Amino acid sequence: MKARIFPLQGPLRAEGLRVPGDKSISHRALLFAALAEGESRIAGLAPGADVRSTASCLAQLGVPLLRGDGTPWKPPPVSDLGQGTHGEAKFSAPRRPPGSLPLPAQDPDMGPDEAIVVGSGLGGLRAPLDPLDCGNSGTTLRLFAGVLAGAGVPATLIGDESLSRRPMERVAAPLRKLGAQVETSAGGRPPVRILPGNKLRPAAIDSPIASAQVKSAVLLAGLFADGETSFTEPSRSRDHTERLLRQMGVPLRSSGATATVRGPAHPRPFALDVPGDLSSAAFLLTAALVAPAGSSIALEHVGVNPTRAGFLDALALFGARLQLRLDGLDSGGAGQDVEPAARLSCGTQKLRGAALDEELTLRAIDEVPILSVLGALSAGTTTIRGAGELRVKESDRLAVMAQGLRAMGAAVEEFPDGLRIEGLGGTGKKLRGAVIDAQSDHRIALAFSVAALAAEGPTEISGAEWADVSFPGFYTLLRQFGAQVEIGP
Ligand code: S3P
Repeated sequence: MKARIFPLQGPLRAEGLRVPGDKSISHRALLFAALAEGESRIAGLAPGADVRSTASCLAQLGVPLLRGDGTPWKPPPVSDLGQGTHGEAKFSAPRRPPGSLPLPAQDPDMGPDEAIVVGSGLGGLRAPLDPLDCGNSGTTLRLFAGVLAGAGVPATLIGDESLSRRPMERVAAPLRKLGAQVETSAGGRPPVRILPGNKLRPAAIDSPIASAQVKSAVLLAGLFADGETSFTEPSRSRDHTERLLRQMGVPLRSSGATATVRGPAHPRPFALDVPGDLSSAAFLLTAALVAPAGSSIALEHVGVNPTRAGFLDALALFGARLQLRLDGLDSGGAGQDVEPAARLSCGTQKLRGAALDEELTLRAIDEVPILSVLGALSAGTTTIRGAGELRVKESDRLAVMAQGLRAMGAAVEEFPDGLRIEGLGGTGKKLRGAVIDAQSDHRIALAFSVAALAAEGPTEISGAEWADVSFPGFYTLLRQFGAQVEIGP
């Protein structure tokens, strides 16, 4: 699907908006609920294709799970502009293993973004009949690798073309240190095979990379081992796993960049309201910052967990003023493990280039594409360092952003771990519309769609349907903002 996006002609004004539920937290909520003993209820789930991959894999493992909009393996929403969606066939009903417990009954009060998951404890997963299809989702593949290795459930984890290029030894190697039998395919990539093995032994894992996915895989495997399993990383990555496991009563402590879990655990079921995804909010906030004068936007209930809210700190470095009002302060706040959420609002502003270092980049790793767009529209130079991990995301995001921004007229230098961008702000020049390939990467499609709103002339994005991986409804929203968006095959 191609989206042809024209620049905004007037101010963007939107209030009371909610962005899709947080993807990282949604994956964890569904998967961890499957390991609890009893029924969990989750609201505010991310609607995109990635979290549906997690739900679908759980169905393949026999877990009784029902989403409010139907069965967990329902195809992802047909892209909001009616041109079909990528990989629809991948979401056809998966086979559930014989003896799986029946699905929970639909609750008439359930909303489309809610789910009921009935967990049967750590021993509740059944060997799947087919390979587990993780679609485009690295989080799904890596977190399931940890759980299945811990549970000793044999399975093969596969993904789409983009996921099949991504490195998996980073998760297989530490799991082997715990005694798991894990095989990766050529070049350490998927498919990943988990073989039935002995019970895992606890271990202290020292990771050369900071990664919440690898950390989560190790901690989840550690739930099954007898004793303390720890994970130490060079800097602390997002801590959604630690927070939710602690809420579930799992003995888990964090100190600096080390998290330690004690197994065997007996996770309790929970009720959770997932906040909006800051990574999705980042596209809308940026759109308002660079939109014609007089624009303003207010987003409700957006997750602002400090271990991944680097985008907000980055905005401050760009000189942007953003209003943040924390939710729940009236009620005295919430426990320290509850994910903080806030109302975020901002409007059109003149921005200056910023230097984003490694510490900040780790907490804004998924926002680097949109921060690069912001750099190209600000006055002066923006440098982004410590972002080497972006080369092994859904696409090589550093190369793809550099290439696309150059096509739009910005001067960009690429480093192994980052970018230097000469912004056009204050020069009297604008980005110019270009032809961009989303490269099977939702954040590339979304970032260049926002750049298009502030460019001169239309921008054509091929593969725009990939936006559905994290932000179904995005192009409809752009039209509501007053943008002209043409969709074609
Ligand atoms: C995620 C962790 C990050 C992030 C990804 C989601 C998670 O990846 O980029 O989008 O939910 O744990 P890494 O763990 O590979 O850094």
